[in-house]
Amino acid sequence: MKKDLKIALFGCGTVGSGVHELLRTEGARMARATGFNLSVAGICVRDPEKERGVPVPHDIITTNGGPLLDDPDIDIVVELIGGEEEARGIIARALVNGKNVVTANKLVIARHLPYLRRLEELHGGRLFYGASVCGSIPILKVIDETLIVDRITHLRGVVNGSTNFILSRLAEGCSDAEALELASANGFLEADPTADISGADAAHKLSILAFHAFGRHVPPEAIDTTGIERVTALQVEQARASGKTIKLVAEAAETNGELRLSVAPRLVDLNDPLASVRDEMNIVELQCEGVGTQRFSGKGAGSIPTANAVLSDLTDILARRRYQRSHADRICIPQGTFPDCGRSPAHDRSNTSRTIGV
Ligand SMILES: NC(=O)c1ccc[n+]([C@@H]2O[C@H](COP(=O)([O-])OP(=O)(O)OC[C@H]3O[C@@H](n4cnc5c(N)ncnc54)[C@H](OP(=O)(O)O)[C@@H]3O)[C@@H](O)[C@H]2O)c1
Repeated sequence: MKKDLKIALFGCGTVGSGVHELLRTEGARMARATGFNLSVAGICVRDPEKERGVPVPHDIITTNGGPLLDDPDIDIVVELIGGEEEARGIIARALVNGKNVVTANKLVIARHLPYLRRLEELHGGRLFYGASVCGSIPILKVIDETLIVDRITHLRGVVNGSTNFILSRLAEGCSDAEALELASANGFLEADPTADISGADAAHKLSILAFHAFGRHVPPEAIDTTGIERVTALQVEQARASGKTIKLVAEAAETNGELRLSVAPRLVDLNDPLASVRDEMNIVELQCEGVGTQRFSGKGAGSIPTANAVLSDLTDILARRRYQRSHADRICIPQGTFPDCGRSPAHDRSNTSRTIGV
């Protein structure tokens, strides 16, 4: 592999600008650690005139991403535009062109993971999406490594920072309106907060976690999901009076081969480790047959924690790692998930048995 690698950055918003800045400030350190120099050769955005808040060379900004995706000099595509169709198209085209791809897009990964993993196998690039689940917590790598020698039977966590921030304020006695206002003022609510409040964002992350932990793709729409819309300040107060609190809990368990996934507000004892995770923090708890219970917590969102996860994925590409493949044969593929393929990859087993450890 050549030593100077070029990145095309799609999106330079909250996460993209953080990635550009971290590469600028920490690039030399990464080069010393990995032996590779990474440079951003192109940045695709919607509005080329927008102020980015970090130093970004104007001459590499474009609104036309196609040439970057087809440019043989671009080695790595980092997709951070959000949304579904355009982002899926960028990731798929980059993979078909044999490029390595890093994305933080949980919606695209949760809905299209089997298809994208198949493109990865067919065309030789590598796809990493650690930043799409729980920001700075390297939970997908932990799960992959755990599965080399152990088995996960149960997984649960608080994986949405926005709703955890709101529930934390309610637990402190804020009214519903005050909690929402504080979440918005602190940048923890999207312009359209529906995906967070409805539990859909947590379901996307749970789908990805379950794919790694249990080797099955359960589309987020198939996950039993309840959001926090109906949780009131009064309910949180009543929970506190009985020594409990309310958390939006994402949970997956495999019993006798049956996999159950759910996202819902749950009453949690105050001495439960999930109760101690406050504000925008996330936690994931794994119950393993061999090593028992393990917990991982950290910042689940924000510019620098998420950008940090993207750079960690870039480092994995430089180290020629991949996610585990040992469970590929167990992928459960829903109809209509493969719009770009002539036939369902479920029927093309020619290249699925490879197991490449992280
Ligand atoms: N924010 C977080 O804390 C966080 C955490 C984990 C994962 N993520 C994921 O990271 C991704 C990016 O999130 P973000 O918060 O950085 O979003 P954002 O602040 O809204 O930034 C989106 C960027 O993408 C650009 N863009 C949007 N549509 C485009 C298109 N069709 N073509 C070219 N550029 C386009 C925008 O360009 P302009 O600037 O010109 O408008 C902007 O620079 C999302 O998938 C999100 O779910 C975010």
